[in-house]
Amino acid sequence: MRAVFILGLGGLLLAGTAQAQQPVEAMAAAGKKIAGQCRTCHGIDGYAKIPIAPHIGGEPASYIIRQLTAFRDGTRTHEMMSVVAKMLTDQQIADVAAWYSSHSATATLTADASGAPELCAACHGVDGIAAVEDAPNLAGETNIYIDTQLKAFRLGKRKHEVMSAIAADLTDEQIRAFADWYGSVKLEIKMAD
Ligand code: HEC
Ligand code: HEC
Repeated sequence: MRAVFILGLGGLLLAGTAQAQQPVEAMAAAGKKIAGQCRTCHGIDGYAKIPIAPHIGGEPASYIIRQLTAFRDGTRTHEMMSVVAKMLTDQQIADVAAWYSSHSATATLTADASGAPELCAACHGVDGIAAVEDAPNLAGETNIYIDTQLKAFRLGKRKHEVMSAIAADLTDEQIRAFADWYGSVKLEIKMAD
């Protein structure tokens, strides 16, 4: 009796763990289906199709989850993304983030590295491939997108303790120069096999 009880409990515990930590491959596969709703703007591989949308392939899953949740909560707003995010459950957000983060992003400079903004490189890299877990890649984003986000941080329309403080002190000229630097980098996104 006792052995059966323990075995039964073991089974329950195993089932519990399996549900809490689904294999990332299974989540990415489910996320690929959801990405069908994103592809007209972000591509199925996360390489953006329209200039106002960012590349999201190869971004950390934690970053994608944080942004989608912010659009859904209304702490970040955008006429298109706020509508899209409201239709997603936590599970769908985790799945679609697993899909887009499963790709790898590589960057190639088209200008001399000495022109890279020192103020930004510690976190976003010289080439716009993020150097810290929390920060997104900027490589190859359009200068329009980067410009818009920096001005949103400066205005307080988009908030983040680090970026709001940095953007608060930037002039329009600096914003344009940083946006042009990261926008000039060539980005390549490779899909996971
Ligand atoms: C109609 C076009 C459109 C569709 C469809 C769309 N997006 Fe977006 N997405 C955008 C635009 C435009 C932005 C930039 C918003 C801004 O300027 O703040 C964006 C921003 C994002 C961001 C923030 C990225 C960053 O670097 O901060 C994420 C993550 C994202 N979208 C994920 C998705 C996912 C996942 C889907 C599908 C479920 C999706 N989007 C569907 C247009 C779209
Ligand atoms: C100490 C680290 C750090 C530094 C330095 C830093 N950033 Fe950031 N940056 C971040 C983090 C973290 C985020 C993500 C904010 C969020 O979650 O909304 C971010 C987000 C951004 C975004 C939004 C990207 C997107 O995909 O939506 C832009 C644009 C940006 N940073 C530009 C810059 C520029 C330009 C500089 C230099 C003037 C800079 N950052 C310096 C950490 C940093």
